[in-house]
Amino acid sequence: MVRTAVLVSGDGTNLQSIINAHNFGKIKNCELAAVISSRPDAFALTRAKNAGIPTYVVNYKNFPNRASFSEAIYQRLKSLDIELVVLAGFMVVLGPPVIDHYENRIINIHPSLVPAFCGEGFYGIRVHEEALNYGVKVSGATAHFATAVADAGPVIIQRAVEVREDDTPSTLQKRIMEEVEWKILPEAISLYCEGRLQVVGRIVHIKEATA
Ligand code: GAR
Repeated sequence: MVRTAVLVSGDGTNLQSIINAHNFGKIKNCELAAVISSRPDAFALTRAKNAGIPTYVVNYKNFPNRASFSEAIYQRLKSLDIELVVLAGFMVVLGPPVIDHYENRIINIHPSLVPAFCGEGFYGIRVHEEALNYGVKVSGATAHFATAVADAGPVIIQRAVEVREDDTPSTLQKRIMEEVEWKILPEAISLYCEGRLQVVGRIVHIKEATA
């Protein structure tokens, strides 16, 4: 079983999709060992408690900078003996030592088809505002490995939805969450935990399932 920690900052609907998929046996060989929040008031913590998953808060506001916050996250992951880290609506870009130590072992979900509408400053509803302002006809979400550069790591799964004429940022966000994010994030976690992902440079190869 791959000991997995899910890092969150907000509502935690992606965390809920992971919990649900795990309960239905759709995420294989995975132990949901911890949920760690960067905010003490994140509703995601309630979702984790309801599912019986141990919760921890590493409050971003208590740290002078991103480096010391990243160090605290690293120490917490190490003390919990975590193998896989999942960023599920986690709103801090992590730096070393987490990124270095967990190379190709941190999965992030981003609500656009990267490399569009991603990177520093693109998060949550802002991503969908920018996509609509640009006038794209498709958008979607991306599950990828995290590197030191925000949203720039190797792509694991991407899926698209059509943008509708009458979409608002919140209708587009909702559709991308329901139709893409809540599906591809659990899928990517399972692929990792089943040992089916092979990373060559920035290309992720997905191996066939063994019977
Ligand atoms: C999700 O749409 C997620 O993809 C996005 O924030 C939302 C969090 O919702 N993440 C980012 O923008 C990261 N760059 P949730 O807390 O309900 O899962």
